[in-house]
Amino acid sequence: MSRTAWNNLLAEARNLHTGNAAMSAFCTFPTDLTPQEVTPHHTPAADLFQADQELTGSPNDGFRHALITATPLAQWQVLYKDTGIGQDFLDRFGFLCLIGDGGGFHSPTMGAWILYMPANLHYTWHHHIAEEAYLVVAGSARFFRHGKPDVTLSAGQTIQHDRNQPHAMETGDSPVLCYITWRNGFDHLPVLSQAKDFR
Ligand SMILES: [Fe+2]
Repeated sequence: MSRTAWNNLLAEARNLHTGNAAMSAFCTFPTDLTPQEVTPHHTPAADLFQADQELTGSPNDGFRHALITATPLAQWQVLYKDTGIGQDFLDRFGFLCLIGDGGGFHSPTMGAWILYMPANLHYTWHHHIAEEAYLVVAGSARFFRHGKPDVTLSAGQTIQHDRNQPHAMETGDSPVLCYITWRNGFDHLPVLSQAKDFR
């Protein structure tokens, strides 16, 4: 059962990835995937995701359904614990790995993550070694990058972050669900950037 749920989520991710020109250009979807065991971890954000009716109706609803099914098996992470970011953020920020540490699959060539933010949440400036490409699966959010104009993106739209480029994002009235891929250095998790605002 658990493998079926992971395989279904992977198939949905592959469809999103290969069906999007920017994501495909960023990184070829891996053909060297190996399944791995996951120790599940549930968070308040996972509950918010499962109950969030504002994410319905996107063209990518199959991905959302597959994630709902996989949620009890997934390792929802608490990023930025002990950083002073605040309990409200820790409780509402949803993040889990699909390909990589804590995810249902491993690949030496690409990492893949899933991010969920409910409405009205600010994800402050952070950076990481890996280069990154986001695809908005459902909902919308405003994205901020050091040295680039802010953009609001909705379902089907993408954005890239360079190696160690500080970036941030926030939701307004709508939640957001994103599929994220990393290349070149995905063994290191994101860290909060020291400056409060890079705009
Ligand atoms: Fe990032």
